[in-house]
Amino acid sequence: MPISQLSVKAIRNLTELSLSPSPQINIIHGINGSGKSSLLEAIHMLGLCRSFRTNKLNHLIQSDQSLCTVFAQLDAMGSGVNQPVGVERSLQGDNRIRYAGNNIDITTLAELLPIQVINSETFQILDGSPAIRRQFIDWGVFHADASFIRLWRGFRRVLKQRNSLLKYGKIDHRIRAVWDKEFIGHAEQLNTLRESYIDLLKPEFDKILNDLLDGMKLDLSFSSGWDKKRGLDQVLNDNFERDLKQGYTSAGPQRADLRLKIDGHTAAERLSRGQKKVVVSALKLAQGFLFYKLNSRSCIYLIDDLPSELDQQHSRLFCNYLEKAASQCFITCVDKTVLSEYWSSETEVSFFNLHEGALSTP
Ligand SMILES: Nc1ncnc2c1ncn2[C@@H]1O[C@H](COP(=O)(O)OP(=O)(O)O)[C@@H](O)[C@H]1O
Ligand SMILES: [Mg+2]
Repeated sequence: MPISQLSVKAIRNLTELSLSPSPQINIIHGINGSGKSSLLEAIHMLGLCRSFRTNKLNHLIQSDQSLCTVFAQLDAMGSGVNQPVGVERSLQGDNRIRYAGNNIDITTLAELLPIQVINSETFQILDGSPAIRRQFIDWGVFHADASFIRLWRGFRRVLKQRNSLLKYGKIDHRIRAVWDKEFIGHAEQLNTLRESYIDLLKPEFDKILNDLLDGMKLDLSFSSGWDKKRGLDQVLNDNFERDLKQGYTSAGPQRADLRLKIDGHTAAERLSRGQKKVVVSALKLAQGFLFYKLNSRSCIYLIDDLPSELDQQHSRLFCNYLEKAASQCFITCVDKTVLSEYWSSETEVSFFNLHEGALSTP
């Protein structure tokens, strides 16, 4: 489902830039500060209307400019038909998203352009808070099941309502029963979707990791966010007095997590930085492979500074997997020679050299 034409305007130091990327591998190289990560950020903006580097999108807009735009020709369904897609963001915070001549919302855009990012922040899947791992799981569930987004929004609404009742303090037991029933209904459905997704993801991950990390075994498991043996009804009852004191619901899908263990120990505490990069990359690759199996189209990979933390052998293995994924990849690095030799002769590899925010001809 590649992007065949990309134009970026006023994103960080990229004043105005157009390129025709390869449907397979695109290597963006240049010295520090040349705009490589900004170009990936622009593609991310095109797919999700947000940045992977900042929550404050105004930082993304070039100084002295009032809006930024990213525009592309996109074959979203892999059917050979291109449609124009564009995202515009103003300093006032207005977004305009257009696809095939129509205004669309962010959810529709995210469905059209499934994007996977691998950068230094991706380590957070191992080192960071459970919220990061839930985000990782929910990317997959969102793209695997069309009912997810409605269910997820419904659950957030019920959780918010239940928490404001707990904060208020005095809860009539009939009102509590109504909200608990709603909470449990949403929670169980959401949990089933997440569990089924992890069941599908696990074999993909095990296989990729086995190839990438010299046969090392990691145990990937999902935790629902409450004690399944007691059931959520019982857990809510048992926790009620404590929840009332704290003013929030302490168990439920809002506490779900992904566990990665190695010989019974938390992977984050045992692995070297390079091994961690391989593990988080394997998770992201597994999501891409599963996405392809479920949707018969591939996602786009944005990989910032692929060679960092990896030795040659692991960089090569990683690249081999990217080739196998048949995804369009945008990969940045400082020195292009590092990533020049890893590809098979059938793979279409394009190189783009960035210098002070502009493409220089090779
Ligand atoms: N809003 C902005 N307006 C103009 N330039 C910016 C803005 N934000 C960042 N920059 C500049 O853009 C340049 C490119 O940064 P970056 O894409 O991170 O480079 P690279 O990834 O190639 O090292 C940096 O020199 C940075 O100072
Ligand atoms: Mg960078």
